[in-house]
Amino acid sequence: MTDDARQQTQEVYYPTESIVEQANITAYMRSKGFSNWDDLHRWSLDQSDTFWDEMAQRLGWYAPYTQILDDSKKPFFTWFTGGKTNIVHNAIDRHMSTWRRNKLAFIWEGEDGTVRNFSYADVNREVSKLANVLKAMGVQKGDIVSIYLPRVPELPFAMLACAKIGAAHSVIYGGFSHEALRDRIADAQSKVLITADGGYMRNKVIELKKIADDAMSSSPTIQTAIVLKRTGHAVDMHVGRDYWWHDLMALPIASERCETEVVDAEHPLFILYTSGSTGKPKGVVHTHGGYSVGIATTFHFTFDIKDHDIYWCAADPGWITGHSYIVYAPLIEGATSFIYEGAPNYPYPNRWWQIVERYKISILYTAPTAIRGLMRFGDAWPKRHDLSSLRLLGSVGEPINPEAWRWYYDIIGGGNCPIMDTWWQTETGGFMITPNPTTPLKPGSGTKAFLGIEMDVVDEHGNRTADNADGLLVAKRPWPSIMRTILHDAERYANSYWNNEPVGLYTAGDSARRDKDGYFWVIGRIDDVIKVSGYRLGTAEIESALVSHPAVAEAAAIGLPHEIKGTGIHCFVILRSGIEGSDKLSEELRTHVAKELGPITKPEAVSFMAALPKTRSGKIMRRVLKAQALGQDLGDISTLEG
Ligand code: PRX
Repeated sequence: MTDDARQQTQEVYYPTESIVEQANITAYMRSKGFSNWDDLHRWSLDQSDTFWDEMAQRLGWYAPYTQILDDSKKPFFTWFTGGKTNIVHNAIDRHMSTWRRNKLAFIWEGEDGTVRNFSYADVNREVSKLANVLKAMGVQKGDIVSIYLPRVPELPFAMLACAKIGAAHSVIYGGFSHEALRDRIADAQSKVLITADGGYMRNKVIELKKIADDAMSSSPTIQTAIVLKRTGHAVDMHVGRDYWWHDLMALPIASERCETEVVDAEHPLFILYTSGSTGKPKGVVHTHGGYSVGIATTFHFTFDIKDHDIYWCAADPGWITGHSYIVYAPLIEGATSFIYEGAPNYPYPNRWWQIVERYKISILYTAPTAIRGLMRFGDAWPKRHDLSSLRLLGSVGEPINPEAWRWYYDIIGGGNCPIMDTWWQTETGGFMITPNPTTPLKPGSGTKAFLGIEMDVVDEHGNRTADNADGLLVAKRPWPSIMRTILHDAERYANSYWNNEPVGLYTAGDSARRDKDGYFWVIGRIDDVIKVSGYRLGTAEIESALVSHPAVAEAAAIGLPHEIKGTGIHCFVILRSGIEGSDKLSEELRTHVAKELGPITKPEAVSFMAALPKTRSGKIMRRVLKAQALGQDLGDISTLEG
């Protein structure tokens, strides 16, 4: 957050009375006898068992839990202990005996304009059939199925089919390279990969099957690949390993009836890999019970979902935003969700606004990078369309600069749609700091912690910082949708997030400020993680990709401000002796990183250096590189190698 943004803290946007009157949170607040948010929030912390119990009771359970929170094995918390559930029971099965059976669950539009609609009953049918196929393939409760699909309805179906039979899913974003896919398959020890022949992006075919073939050629655990036909272009099918999705779904084994597996509240639901400070991605583990409660509650109150809403989260289902707020929470809440396959500005910069008008989208949830990217094309594009169906807007993934916030608010929201700037992480499962529709908003601030969530800003000793002082963003107590561990590495989980003084604070890895009104202003990451267009990348992963090139001896990657992407990747390399730096080599290295890790990781620039600034113990001082690049004061460099 820039100083300019900090000065904007006086700029406050109030919701209209009609928005306040109809909000889910208003009804809840009144039912509890409170007249303001802060009192309700205080109560939700003081009586947190009561609050989370009430929220859990909004969902169905096969067998009741006996304890709300068990913190006896801190930081390995368990929630709703003893409860029997399955997220699919709440996301699909429960709706089968109500009118929502025939309500639209998903409206999908392909980049080519094709539309596919799925009612809740349709989703149930597709998911049950695929679940039976997976069972026939030998997938069992507790297995991890890897999924590498484009943005098509079959991606949520595949996730739900795994969950239904008690298997965990590991979705690998379709923009990742074969190495990234291979490493994640290996970590999860998956026997089955669900993929597609390809996907479309800007009318180009993304060769997913080819990438999957490369990954599977060095993935000894994989026995079966289920291949969805999306593009229809020719792909290699490996006899005995690869099966077409549609062939399997036409077999008698793919019956439309499949019992949902009853699992413990703490049974793993999915693994989602995310970047941390080391080169090895973390397999974040979420479970059925607490996760369901956390995401359903936040979705209900923040996005204020109503049965007549058409909700559009423009993220990819392959990231946590998609897992929580495209797939699971909207289904649990019985919402109608719109999913769009393509890019925001293809073929024209009004594609999204056309969609909002055509489908009468009432809630739009996207990332600052998309907003900035669309803002660049000017107001005329959105102004060609009737966007009056919009009621609420959302932002996620990185700090939103006040200029983009105001454009989103005025031009897209017509000046009367509150913006839900939701701060959260793969690890938190659901929103942590977020407004609700009744919250007075300050552009660039996610406002305050959600109900039952206690956030603060502290110094390195765990002491609360003064108002407006920079510090570490922490959560002071656990919450139901918190990650449970890192797959195969419980120690890393404990050390990365809870290894602090005083013990008991969850450190998010972000720096932030708290203003005099208690509003949080997230500044950015304090660890070696870069957020590029909202995507989370580890500097170590980028550096090891660079070092894998024969010309490179050493590398350092840093994030520098970028007008659209928020942050762009800049790399500094030391070449092996005898190799000369050139523009051609710099370009080659940029392409090399993109090939190794996926197109989103392509650096803005690769520069050559004779030496990298290091501490005496040999750690690269990225902070110094960053200050040099920005022409800033180098700060404390007493530990710099002489
Ligand atoms: O730095 C914060 C930033 O994104 C990080 C989490 O990234 P990831 O696990 O990929 O999850 C992204 C989607 C939830 C955080 O540590 N971040 C996320 N939301 C915001 C944000 N920064 C500022 N404002 C936000 N609303």
